[in-house]
Amino acid sequence: MGYQEVYESWKSDPEGFWMQQAEAIDWDQKPSKALFEVGDNLYEWFSDGQTNTCWNAVDRHVEAGRGGQVAIIHDSPITGTLHKITYAELRNRVARLAGALRAKGIEKGDRVIIYMPMVPEALEAMLACARLGAIHSVVFGGFAANELAVRIDDAKPKAIVAASCGLEPGRVVHYKPLLDGAIEQAKHKPDFCVIFQREQEVAHLEEGRDHDWHGFQYGVEPADCVPVEGNHPAYILHTSGTTGAPKGVIRHTGGHLVALNWTMKNIYNVDPGDVFWAASDVGWVVGHSYICYAPLIHGNTTIVFEGKPVGTPDAGTFWRVISEHNVRSFFTAPTAFRAVKRDDPKGEYVGKYDISCLKAIYLAGERADPDTIEWAQKVTGKPIYDHWWQTETGWTIAGMPAGIEALPVKIGSPSVPMPGYDVQILDEAGHPMKPGELGAIAVKLPLPPGTLPTLWNAEDRFRKSYLSHFPGYYETGDAGMIDEDGYLYIMARTDDVINVAGHRLSTGGMEEVLASHPDVAECAVIGVTDELKGQLPMGFVCLTTGVNRPHDEIVKECVKLVRDKIGPVAAFKLCAVVDRLPKTRSGKILRATMVKIADSEEFKLPATIDDPAILDEIKVALQSMGYAKG
Ligand code: COA
Ligand code: AMP
Repeated sequence: MGYQEVYESWKSDPEGFWMQQAEAIDWDQKPSKALFEVGDNLYEWFSDGQTNTCWNAVDRHVEAGRGGQVAIIHDSPITGTLHKITYAELRNRVARLAGALRAKGIEKGDRVIIYMPMVPEALEAMLACARLGAIHSVVFGGFAANELAVRIDDAKPKAIVAASCGLEPGRVVHYKPLLDGAIEQAKHKPDFCVIFQREQEVAHLEEGRDHDWHGFQYGVEPADCVPVEGNHPAYILHTSGTTGAPKGVIRHTGGHLVALNWTMKNIYNVDPGDVFWAASDVGWVVGHSYICYAPLIHGNTTIVFEGKPVGTPDAGTFWRVISEHNVRSFFTAPTAFRAVKRDDPKGEYVGKYDISCLKAIYLAGERADPDTIEWAQKVTGKPIYDHWWQTETGWTIAGMPAGIEALPVKIGSPSVPMPGYDVQILDEAGHPMKPGELGAIAVKLPLPPGTLPTLWNAEDRFRKSYLSHFPGYYETGDAGMIDEDGYLYIMARTDDVINVAGHRLSTGGMEEVLASHPDVAECAVIGVTDELKGQLPMGFVCLTTGVNRPHDEIVKECVKLVRDKIGPVAAFKLCAVVDRLPKTRSGKILRATMVKIADSEEFKLPATIDDPAILDEIKVALQSMGYAKG
């Protein structure tokens, strides 16, 4: 069957389609049906089935006689180490860790926060939670203590599993002090912590609260997999939303297993036993779905890569890893290729390695600019497939169904909707638009298995954020169009989310931090175009009357404040003091106009602007930061 037939077969019988895909999963009790309507536009999948994620990702492969296959390759150019773990070893390691967590009181439904760098133990901690039916919440290492505290207070974990440190090129990230600071700030306190001591920095353990990763596993009974309902939360993953606290995206167990397993062959075109590599971080959704769960559920070998595209040690690292480990499909973010391209524009490093094992490269996380795609295609000679999805969906909304049919690539488009997604372009009033017309991208409900059923502790916010604007649809927050051939084009966000080096951040969240500076009366943060990272945040602050300290000093404090409160990952370095912000007569800050000026794009002066002269002042500030040159 070709793509069109597969898509139509889903559309004509979604229930039959997903029940058939569910056959590939081991169930303790098979679900009686696929879709469960909870009511009032809420849906769940496979709710009355019983299964276990860890069983499907680990044990069943051992039972099937593939225990000797490598499950995880840890390749760390930062520490200069390479470590392989077979499925049989992984089962034993995870069962023991789960046994130790259980011995300390972790049970089905308890939350466990995982705060770890790119080491296999991060995946083992996730799988150990899944084994017990505990709900993990992984927090990215590039966030500051404050962001970790916010997640602790939302997830209310019984335990926190962390590493003593992370390693960035030339810098040790002190995880343990960050964790201690976060626990101190948080209202909720975990019962205990488990610390994986890395030799690069051994951390102090708090007597009575902290346990050593190895020590606390001594003498425990390994734990078996605990069957859970299909609609039992497998994990919570917080992501940036419009202002305020991050949103806790929930993933249910049954749909997660079924959908991710389907994607491995149909999108990434790998068979069990093949090596699959997603160069992301376990703290992001790509890491959850495609470093940890999907490759393991499908019986592939996954790579945990602790390094960067450049500088560890050079721009040939990607090709070295692909060649050395026989990678068949490779997934990364466009920004990583922009970094490689900057250091090795002619792709000379590619020639040093035999990458004939590689069949295709997949890009996601941000808009894939045509220059980068064309460069990657030219230097590697491989097909480059852009695909579009979000933390909320957990897997591809639109992409190239390479395992079904390699459709023609249209550069600038992440290709076509996957089965399960009825993607529509809507106007402001919610009417479907014609091909080629730009509008809000929405997905007709229900969303497919594996996507978010709601937000953790925030059903109202779920409805407000995603369901209320276009009744009967899920609002993606992206704007774009569909062409005559059904190819989708993603053009912009419709909210305050920006994408910095493939990392999703909220400008509203940064504004809240800047507004907390005692000298700042008012502020705005916008996302400006950056050649390497796609976008960069830029802040404008207006000072409280009477403040006459040097502006440089205040700017430095603002930059430090965002780094301390949100984290280095925000990459907030551009900030200027201005007298006033451009606004409409009703007081709305004209952020979109500021972005256009910064990027030297043409723009129409908004009819409702209060005082156009302010834009000249903004332009001068932008020019002082190297923008608005055109
Ligand atoms: N833990 C702690 N700090 C981290 C971190 C982590 N896991 N990841 C990034 N940071 C820090 C960086 O060290 C940097 O700190 P600095 O300001 O002290 O230099 C800061 O956060 C910004 O990081 P980043 O935006 O990644 O910039 P960079 O200059 O270090 O690297 C790239 C640029 C393009 C090489 C890098 O962003 C990259 O590899 N991007 C790929 C992104 C990706 O895979 N995203 C996943 C989505 S699919
Ligand atoms: P995240 O939840 O971090 O995966 O970020 C999701 C958002 O990143 C999407 O809503 C888009 O705005 C953007 N994004 C992800 N993939 C793509 C893509 N292939 N093309 C354009 N934008 C993308």
